[in-house]
Amino acid sequence: MQFYMAPLEGITGALFRTIYQKHFFPFDRMYTPFFGNTGFNTKELKKSDPAKDSVPVIPQILSNKAEDFLQIAAMMKECGYETVNLNLGCPSGTVTGKGRGSGFLRDIPALSAFLDEIFEKCPLPISVKTRVGYDDESVWPELLTLYNRFPMTELIVHPRLKTDMYKPPVRIGTFAYAYEHAKMPLVYNGDICTVSDYEQLIAEFPEIKAVMIGRGMLRNPGLLGELHGQAPVSDDEIRAWLTELKEENLKAFTETPTLFKLKEIWAYLQDRYPDRKKELKQLFKSKKLYEYENAAASLFR
Ligand SMILES: Cc1cc2nc3c(=O)[nH]c(=O)nc-3n(C[C@H](O)[C@H](O)[C@H](O)COP(=O)(O)O)c2cc1C
Repeated sequence: MQFYMAPLEGITGALFRTIYQKHFFPFDRMYTPFFGNTGFNTKELKKSDPAKDSVPVIPQILSNKAEDFLQIAAMMKECGYETVNLNLGCPSGTVTGKGRGSGFLRDIPALSAFLDEIFEKCPLPISVKTRVGYDDESVWPELLTLYNRFPMTELIVHPRLKTDMYKPPVRIGTFAYAYEHAKMPLVYNGDICTVSDYEQLIAEFPEIKAVMIGRGMLRNPGLLGELHGQAPVSDDEIRAWLTELKEENLKAFTETPTLFKLKEIWAYLQDRYPDRKKELKQLFKSKKLYEYENAAASLFR
């Protein structure tokens, strides 16, 4: 089984990915958060070096215009990447309102024309990450029939509708349908947060190619190690990871965005510390890095 790091916009940039892989059991493959317009700065892409990285990094594109997708893919090729991923899952209103991400799933004829063009002209192989519909899962068989027409390297399915946002549970029946009918290698994504979540999934779907994990690795950064039979990570290991993240972020950004990034991680990591509510409250309230550090120190006391 392969394990992929999910793209998490605002969290899993190049710095996060490098430091995560150094401190914890490494993923087999990592997907970047989406690049959504042709004018983007390639600096972030160049921070990962496809030629030197021991683990493949796959850049993701969010677009509903074939011309833009192809232009971005060409830039990614120039940066040395060997494959790209198409985002058909993002549920954010600002994205779906423009018919992108899971908003594109509402217009199957337009999606079909888009896929025809990008698969014909893209200079790199394409994988797709998708939700199973916009507001009605009965379109899923039609969507899957459409996807089956294209030579995608893999289909990553997050079995939720756009309107589900992140509300549990996932629509496992739609994944079961894909398991039966998908012609391409299939990757599962969604709500894998413990070894037992993983074991249940694999008992039901033993032949999937890979499992993609996002929030579960933030709630428990030792999850991947545990999935490989390692002991849970200690607070000291988590502290060392956060310290390096902070220090490296401070080299690239000022205090405020660094603090913001750390708090975003803590929004998930806090689940590990249900008995430290007071310290967590202090941590989230902190406006200065030294206040954050004091709160984190007492949390890890
Ligand atoms: C903060 C945040 C940012 C995300 N950014 C992206 C993104 O850039 N591209 C994408 O395909 N999915 C994105 N997702 C969705 C995740 O990749 C993943 O599909 C979703 O969180 C379900 O998997 P999980 O339960 O393992 O987290 C994001 C999710 C969150 C919570």
